Amino acid sequence: MGRRSLAIGAAALALCGCGSSGRATGASGHAYAAGRAIFIHAGCGGCHTLEAAGTHGVLGPDFDRSEKLTEAQIRGQLDLGVGGMPSFRGRLSPKQEDAVAAFLSAAMRRRH
Ligand code: HEC
Repeated sequence: MGRRSLAIGAAALALCGCGSSGRATGASGHAYAAGRAIFIHAGCGGCHTLEAAGTHGVLGPDFDRSEKLTEAQIRGQLDLGVGGMPSFRGRLSPKQEDAVAAFLSAAMRRRH
């Protein structure tokens, strides 16, 4: 399962033509869309609610309501895993972890 979702995430990264992510443009828009695809395909959304990714998981914090985190804080969480949150080290490449952390941090900052 981990292996499979990783392959899908990598494919999403490779295929990312990034027509429009709606709000973002240019290089950062590309990264945003790639991170969003990883968030969905790596299973983050199975445990986390995030409107920007259209997910409604309830095991972990709801990112539409939780405290805003920096990219670095999210990145750390991905490597370590805490409590009910598995570590993604070895499941996602460092580049994929960077992309999903950047996406999530940006999505949190866009909230009102
Ligand atoms: C199996 C369920 C599960 C999956 C899959 C999962 N998480 Fe989590 N996550 C949790 C839980 C539970 C917590 C709360 C951990 C704690 O503090 O005990 C958490 C916490 C977090 C936090 C810290 C939130 C805060 O407010 O401190 C971040 C950031 C996070 N997850 C990001 C992600 C990302 C990105 C992914 C996908 C790569 C992901 N999670 C996948 C269950 C999950």
